Amino acid sequence: MSDPVLLLGDRFQAALVLAFGPEHAGVDPAIRPSNHADFQANLALGLAKTLKKSPRDVAAAILAKLDGTGVVERTELAGPGFINIWLRAEFLSAEVARVAAAGTAGVEAHPTPERIVIDYSSPNVAKEMHVGHLRSSVIGDALARVLEALGHTVLRQNHLGDWGTPFGMLIEHLLDEGADADAHSIRDLNAFYQAARAKFDASPEFAARARVRVVSLQSGDEATLGFWRKLVEASRTHFNALYRLLGVTLKDEDIAGESLFNPMLGEVVSELESMGQCVENEGAKCVFVPGYVGRDDKPLPLIARKQDGGYGYAATDLAAIRYRLQTLNATRILYVVGAPQTQHLAMIRDAAIQAGWLALPARAEHVAFGSVLGEDGKVLRTRAGATVRLIELLEEGVERARSIVAEKAPELPIEQRDAIARAVGIGAIKYADLSSDRVKDYVFDWSRMLAFDGNTAPYLQYAHARICSILRKSNESVELASIAISEPQERVLALSLLAFPRALADVAESLSPHRLCGYLYDLATAFSAFYEHCPVLKAATPEVRRSRLLLSATTATVIARGLELLGIEAPEKM
Ligand code: ARG
Repeated sequence: MSDPVLLLGDRFQAALVLAFGPEHAGVDPAIRPSNHADFQANLALGLAKTLKKSPRDVAAAILAKLDGTGVVERTELAGPGFINIWLRAEFLSAEVARVAAAGTAGVEAHPTPERIVIDYSSPNVAKEMHVGHLRSSVIGDALARVLEALGHTVLRQNHLGDWGTPFGMLIEHLLDEGADADAHSIRDLNAFYQAARAKFDASPEFAARARVRVVSLQSGDEATLGFWRKLVEASRTHFNALYRLLGVTLKDEDIAGESLFNPMLGEVVSELESMGQCVENEGAKCVFVPGYVGRDDKPLPLIARKQDGGYGYAATDLAAIRYRLQTLNATRILYVVGAPQTQHLAMIRDAAIQAGWLALPARAEHVAFGSVLGEDGKVLRTRAGATVRLIELLEEGVERARSIVAEKAPELPIEQRDAIARAVGIGAIKYADLSSDRVKDYVFDWSRMLAFDGNTAPYLQYAHARICSILRKSNESVELASIAISEPQERVLALSLLAFPRALADVAESLSPHRLCGYLYDLATAFSAFYEHCPVLKAATPEVRRSRLLLSATTATVIARGLELLGIEAPEKM
């Protein structure tokens, strides 16, 4: 076990039981990294209340029983009952050496792996992906990578909006134009969508045809399905190109669009009806879940089947959650969807609980996120006021990075500079998104995200490339070197390296990738301080040099692995 917090936690548990009896097994020793020591345990205050003793006495009694063999150098009772802990340098050395040798950056597989469905990206067919879908794709992909690294089985589900009433008007418009969807780029399809919409609103004759077409689509008319497939295909090509450019791991086989659930909708509704959970309401079939009311204070329904017999977004989500639980056997379902859908998703979850489909230990969680704002503090738009096209945004990022790289590394060949520019430009955009608390809105700011200092992708990428350059210059293989921790900066760096698995566990728990960003930033900062105070290539002895080189190499490994789990590349030269 390389995580000192877990190890100390076990030792404190044992001490607690020895000092006060088995009824206290399970009390959280609350061991946190500290500015005053390596760690601080903060369990005495809470226990003191239960035990009706002074916190300092409680802390002293625990310390008297603490077995620190092999791990703890010394402890100190501080303040009203805090316990400061310093670890043995030999312990730190051995654990870092283990991380260095393991090739997994110290991350071990979870003892009870789960099957985790992540619903993310989920753009709409025949419409271009926009900045809102950027957040879902980037956050969802980071969570997928982190949860997989922890040993869970991740089932990516791209819940494409590929079904429903809009397809009636889109197909009719396609036929009117005599247009061939293959010849249309998705950009045309965007304009195409607007034209179809305008006709639908203006012409009752067209609207009527569109409605008939929806019925043909839903009843599986082969010719209609053929036109529909063309629209889906054209969109998918566009989405895939964006995923590749963005470094998002979604593949065609992860598509589980709304159309997949179409054949299940009737059955889902009758199952809900037979359980008495779906009732007739103004001609529609509705599921009511307690606790949700509309603006008029009336109970808010989930519409399982519309008045006209059709099915909508809610019905599809009911079928999807049932499918994920009963067919995919998910034990955890994550919806990476914008904050405006909070109530809808909460109702789907509660309806699934009410139907008995969703029961502990399985759970469904909404990974909500806020909007991307322009520098004016309003939702990001182009100067002309249109929604920003994702592809243009990414291209601009790469373009801006290209000029920075040309300035910083003019000696590199042009192809290499291009590859670095892509890594930096796309990385900067993704990192800016991932490093802000996802539930909040954030301001899209080119100069901040592309800065080489502060909590940014370029800063971390540069730190990594700099270490790679030190290692190249050393011209020495240090895999088998032993690590000696003597300077305080070496100690801080070692502690930071050992905290990587904890940072990932924290992301898995909180579903907040910004915690991993914060960790990597702290690690890179610890490395800077180390590099400033502890000569590496010019160390006093060959042993110290080799030890410091191995500390450096391990830092590079952890930064690169951390960035990879965020979906960001780490070039070796910059
Ligand atoms: N296609 C939807 C949209 O663009 C997002 C779907 C989210 N997932 C879900 N299961 N409802 O708003």
